[in-house]
Amino acid sequence: MTDLDLTAVVIPEDAQPDSPATAPQLRECLRLEEAHNHAVWGNTDRCGTFGEALYYWRGNSYFERLLFLASKNGMPVGSCSVEFSLKDNLDTAWINVLVAEDHRRRGIGRRLLQTAEEMAADRGRRIFQGFCEEPAESADGPGEMLHAKSGSGSLPLAVPSSIFARRAGYSLEQVETSSRLALPVPEELLGKLESGALEHAAGYSLVGWEGSCPEEFVAPYAELRGRMSTDAPTAGLELEKVNWDTDRVREEEQTWVKSGVEALVSAALHNSTGRLAAYTVLSYRQTKPHVVFQEDTLVAFGHRGHRLGMLVKIANIRRAQEAWPAARSVLTWNASENRHMLAINTSLGFKPSGFEGEWQKRLDDPLYGT
Ligand SMILES: CC(C)(COP(=O)(O)OP(=O)(O)OC[C@H]1O[C@@H](n2cnc3c(N)ncnc32)[C@H](O)[C@@H]1OP(=O)(O)O)[C@@H](O)C(=O)NCCC(=O)NCCS
Repeated sequence: MTDLDLTAVVIPEDAQPDSPATAPQLRECLRLEEAHNHAVWGNTDRCGTFGEALYYWRGNSYFERLLFLASKNGMPVGSCSVEFSLKDNLDTAWINVLVAEDHRRRGIGRRLLQTAEEMAADRGRRIFQGFCEEPAESADGPGEMLHAKSGSGSLPLAVPSSIFARRAGYSLEQVETSSRLALPVPEELLGKLESGALEHAAGYSLVGWEGSCPEEFVAPYAELRGRMSTDAPTAGLELEKVNWDTDRVREEEQTWVKSGVEALVSAALHNSTGRLAAYTVLSYRQTKPHVVFQEDTLVAFGHRGHRLGMLVKIANIRRAQEAWPAARSVLTWNASENRHMLAINTSLGFKPSGFEGEWQKRLDDPLYGT
C-alpha cells in the first residue's frame, strides 16, 4: 500500500491548549479517537481532553511518546503510537493502532502496527504491549470466548481487535473489567459501608489533598506510587518496578495543572509508624464535567485486611461529590483477577461496562514469526 501517508504529530514547545491553530495533526488524532468512542460507547467519556493530549504526547523525562496520523489522499484514516519508558521497562514498548471505521479491512491496521513495531524494535525493545477495550454487550450471545492467560476474564474471540491482535502474534495475557459508578452515591450507603470498615481499621487515620501532596507526605507517597507497579496484579505482562521519587510526583502534579486536570487524593496513615499505607486518586476535567476517572488505588502489602481500600475510596467519593457536583459517573478499570478491588467497587455500586484486553508479543518468543 503506497498511498498511505504517515505524519509524525509535532507538538511545538510553546503550544497552548486554547489556541485553535495548535498541533492540527494532534486534533485530527483526537477526532478519530472520539469518532471511534462514539461508535462503540455512544459517548466520548473515555477520551481525554486536547489539553491533556498536548502534554501527554509531548513526553517528558520519564517517557518518550510518538504519535502518527495516517492519511490517504489528504484525508485522516487512522493513527498509531508507540511509547517508551526511559527509566525502567527498557525492553518494552506500548503500541496502539486505530483505523477509521470506513477504512477498515484494507490492510491499514496491519501496516500501522508493523510500522510501530519496527520503530520499537529499532530502539531495542523486544516486548510489545497493547490494550483494547470492548463493551460488555460484545460478550452477549453465543460466540466463543478467548480466555486470558492469567486464568481470569475473557474476551469475545470474534471482535475485530481480538482477531487483529492474535493474527499479529499477540497473546491475551490479562483482561481488565471496566466499570461505571453512577453519581451521586447515596450517603446512606457510604455511611453504612464506612461504619462496617472502621471496625477493622484501628490504628490508621485518613488524610487527603487536592492537586499537590503536602511536603510531609510526599516521600512516603512516592514510595507507595512505586509499589503500584509491583503490588497490583499484572498477570503475564512483563512489567518491571517503576521507581517513583518526589521529583516524579511533583512532575506529574505540574503536568496535571498545565493540562487542566484536577486530582483528589485520599490516603490512610499508619499512626504508629507515620507511614502511608494506602491511597486512591480521582481525576476530573472541567471541560468534561460529567465524568470522573478513578486512577490508582493501592493498599500496601502488610496493611491489607484492614478495609483501608474501602475507607480511602469512600472518603474520596465524598470529596469528589462536593468538589465536582456536575459529575455523573466514575469510570474505573481493574484486573479481572483482582477480586478484592472488584468486591469493594461492587459494594460501592460500580457496574461492569466492558472488558479491556491486555495483549503482549515478545520478539524472542520461539513462536514469533511462525
Ligand atoms: C483492529 C483494527 C486496528 C484493525 O484495522 P484494519 O485496518 O481493519 O485491519 P487490517 O485490514 O490491516 O486487517 C489485518 C488482519 O486483522 C484481521 N481483522 C481485522 N479486522 C477484522 C474483522 N473485522 N473481521 C475479521 N478479521 C479482521 C484479519 O485477520 C486481517 O487480515 P486479512 O484481511 O488478511 O484477513 C481496527 O478494527 C480498529 O481500529 N479497531 C478499533 C481500535 C482497536 O481495536 N485497535 C487494536 C488494539 S489491539
